[in-house]
Amino acid sequence: MAERIRRQGPLSFDDWMEAALYDSEGGFFTRAAGAGRSGGDFITSVEVGSLFGTLVARAADDWWDQLGQPDPFLVIDAGAGRGQLARDVLRAEPRCAAALRYVLVERSGGLRAVQSEHLPLESAELVLGPAVPPEPDDEPVAVPGTGPMVTALEGLPAGPAIGVVFANELVDNLPFRIVERTAEGWNEIRVGEVGASFAEVALPADESLAVRADRLADGIAIPAGSRIPVPTALPEWLRSAAAMLRRGVVAIVDYAAPVEELAARGQAGWLRTYRAQQRGSSPLDHPGSQDITADVPIEALRRAAAAAGLSVLTETTQAEWLRSLGVDALVEEARVAWHGRSANDLAALTARSRVHEADALLDPGGLGAHRVTILGKKL
Ligand SMILES: C[S@@+](CC[C@H](N)C(=O)[O-])C[C@H]1O[C@@H](n2cnc3c(N)ncnc32)[C@H](O)[C@@H]1O
Repeated sequence: MAERIRRQGPLSFDDWMEAALYDSEGGFFTRAAGAGRSGGDFITSVEVGSLFGTLVARAADDWWDQLGQPDPFLVIDAGAGRGQLARDVLRAEPRCAAALRYVLVERSGGLRAVQSEHLPLESAELVLGPAVPPEPDDEPVAVPGTGPMVTALEGLPAGPAIGVVFANELVDNLPFRIVERTAEGWNEIRVGEVGASFAEVALPADESLAVRADRLADGIAIPAGSRIPVPTALPEWLRSAAAMLRRGVVAIVDYAAPVEELAARGQAGWLRTYRAQQRGSSPLDHPGSQDITADVPIEALRRAAAAAGLSVLTETTQAEWLRSLGVDALVEEARVAWHGRSANDLAALTARSRVHEADALLDPGGLGAHRVTILGKKL
């Protein structure tokens, strides 16, 4: 990074983040770090336990119904990490299973290797491809009723497909730039080198970044000196997700907040780092050793969705979304099972764990406050 800065001048924060998280050798995710209990650096809803996956399986069934029960039905698990969500969804045996083609999409080769240890992965050609021509000269068609089939890829498949793109805590990890309001317009906060350390450098934002920042801040009074993140990779990622769907849903679960709130909180309130399940240090420290993430500006998500041809179907908190999928009844069942059994019975322990998982997933001061944005294409 120091060498790059010496050659090119101070780096934009999205370039810094791209290298710190995804560099082919030293990137934080490339080195197979990430979400998880043992040796992981942070806990996501997926890693809390199997309850989240059980409810995502229900959501998949609802979307399958809304789409007219297509077969094949593609579910893309975007930013799939170690593959835990895939395991939990498949274990829940959704109604759509026989039609289900489950595709884990994960940039990190290290994490894809972990997925292959725990999942019955098949070749992408088999899972995505229409397999047999009904007659020798006919176009090949997918064989119905052959699911569930599972595969793993580095990037989104080409499509077109009917199905769902589900992204839990992915978009907060897509690179963004940082701008600061000035009396005249916007400065961009870049990363330079001062002596032997990396340091922030404020430079006037170029025209295209200033236009993006103006759009994000449209109609909002942002005081001079306030900073906001400008997602730069999100629009392209959403465009690709939408482009691969002939018809379907893009569901984004992540921490997000309105621009006005982010500006008021200040950078320390929306830019975070994680290492070994603790908050890390400055994002400029030891690139590659910690996760770098930010609350996603809700306005940026809506704007990128509209530009990708997706309409907003619902916007809720995670707690509201999980309740709409029936989490309360599942917890009540677990509570009854827990109290009806002896304390060290395995079923009682499983039931007790489910109650505690629900507490974490619904926590209004934590995972329960995540935003769930459901976007539709031709739906
Ligand atoms: C915070 S982790 C979330 C993992 C998992 N979804 C969970 O909830 O536990 C984000 C993951 O997204 C992956 N990722 C980031 N950008 C990606 C992209 N453009 N395509 C696929 N995976 C990506 C990272 O490598 C990382 O494994």
